Amino acid sequence: MEKDSINKNEKHYLTGREVREIAKQNSKKMRELEKRKMRKCKEEEFLSTMKDPSNILEIENLHTYFFTDQGVVKAVNGVSFSIPLNSTIGVVGESGCGKSITAMSVMRLIQGPSGQIVDGSIRFRANDFKKDSQGKYIPIYEKDENGNIIKETIKDKKNNDVIVDKIKRDSKGFPLYEREEKVYDIVNMPIKEMYRVRGRQIAMVFQEPMTSLNPVFTVGNQLDEVSLLHIPGATKELAKKRTIQMLEMVGIASPERIYDSFPHELSGGMRQRVMIAMALAAEPRLIIADEPTTALDVTIQAQILDLFNELKSRINGSILLITHDLGVIAEMADYVIVMYAGRVIEQGTALEIYNNPCHPYTIGLQKSKPTMDSSKDDLYNIKGNVPNPINMPNYCYFKERCDKCINRCSGDYPNMVKISETHYVACHLYEEKENE
Ligand SMILES: Nc1ncnc2c1ncn2[C@@H]1O[C@H](COP(=O)(O)OP(=O)(O)OP(=O)(O)O)[C@@H](O)[C@H]1O
Ligand code: SF4
Ligand SMILES: [Mg+2]
Repeated sequence: MEKDSINKNEKHYLTGREVREIAKQNSKKMRELEKRKMRKCKEEEFLSTMKDPSNILEIENLHTYFFTDQGVVKAVNGVSFSIPLNSTIGVVGESGCGKSITAMSVMRLIQGPSGQIVDGSIRFRANDFKKDSQGKYIPIYEKDENGNIIKETIKDKKNNDVIVDKIKRDSKGFPLYEREEKVYDIVNMPIKEMYRVRGRQIAMVFQEPMTSLNPVFTVGNQLDEVSLLHIPGATKELAKKRTIQMLEMVGIASPERIYDSFPHELSGGMRQRVMIAMALAAEPRLIIADEPTTALDVTIQAQILDLFNELKSRINGSILLITHDLGVIAEMADYVIVMYAGRVIEQGTALEIYNNPCHPYTIGLQKSKPTMDSSKDDLYNIKGNVPNPINMPNYCYFKERCDKCINRCSGDYPNMVKISETHYVACHLYEEKENE
């Protein structure tokens, strides 16, 4: 229920009756959305197609709301952007603009019943294991030059020799299974079906590793679990081998020792490396890193960013990097999405956003970045605050803070204006330039 439809006389409080009315209407909507989340349905219902086959993720018109007793918080209010395969996308914007909620929506980790995705689509190109008619994974067998399956002798549970078809294995010893590409509309997926995407196809690295690692299990235990859970044919020995390899890959010098350590025995940088190893364990196609370096000191920050840069070429996937640090974005991202108050206000390649920022908010963000030669007095700040998320205006959300405001800015919310093939901005200042 919109607060403004009840609270017409602009008073700064809600009466008990109004709160009860909002709660009643919210609960109806929440029940409906929760029921949809928990439903059982056939796969066809959430299969989709990508608009551009070179993308790995397409977010279109995403709306994620929180139904509170004060009104509806439109945390993500019509966000659209795409992530091409093998690229790094940086999402930047000030605190509270909806960066994390966008990422959590992709993972379907929004805390219900108050938090709900109410509209839009999130299309994801998954490379999942193929199943036969009985729901079993289909192994890839070793064949000789005549195309006949090679046989091998293995021990069964009772230690007897049995002859079986030989399954192909990768360099780490894991059996290979047939895979197929499918496009899922994540918004439409029942929450139970998300297990085939979360962790396996899309992994997330959170800001504070200590809160994401379980303090009562060893690092090895927690990393092994990812392989055992997501990779068919994984045994305890194989999982351990893989964990050690992952720890080496993220630059941990003595992986065997770290394998047996508990999270509290590690430094912040080491813990973040463990989190990245955990994200990589199931070979996901997309890694979402939400402020991965904010809790670390600058030298470790640089090491973790170097690690991400290195991984970019080693994994066959993409990275969605969320940060409010423009410096991090400059170093890492191919494309940049600038968010403000739950919407995308500018997007373009990193060069376009740095050399030619167009939206007054992006220009302000650039100016407020401290440099080596800026004195304390020089540092620019964007005056004012973000509007109340429960009562967003119909016009540009940045109007109250903008120093380039024109008459038209009091009208409708600005549409996305094309500056170049890759550069778009939501601002009335550029509409005429586009028409020209
Ligand atoms: N559980 C909740 N209930 C109500 N509102 C919420 C809830 N969680 C988040 N929000 C609102 O959603 C908006 C977006 O939050 P989000 O966490 O995505 O911000 P952010 O851009 O990640 O900020 P930061 O840079 O501080 O991490 C905020 O305005 C916040 O108040
Ligand atoms: S639309 Fe108007 S108010 Fe909004 S950012 Fe552009 S110039 Fe400023
Ligand atoms: Mg956040």
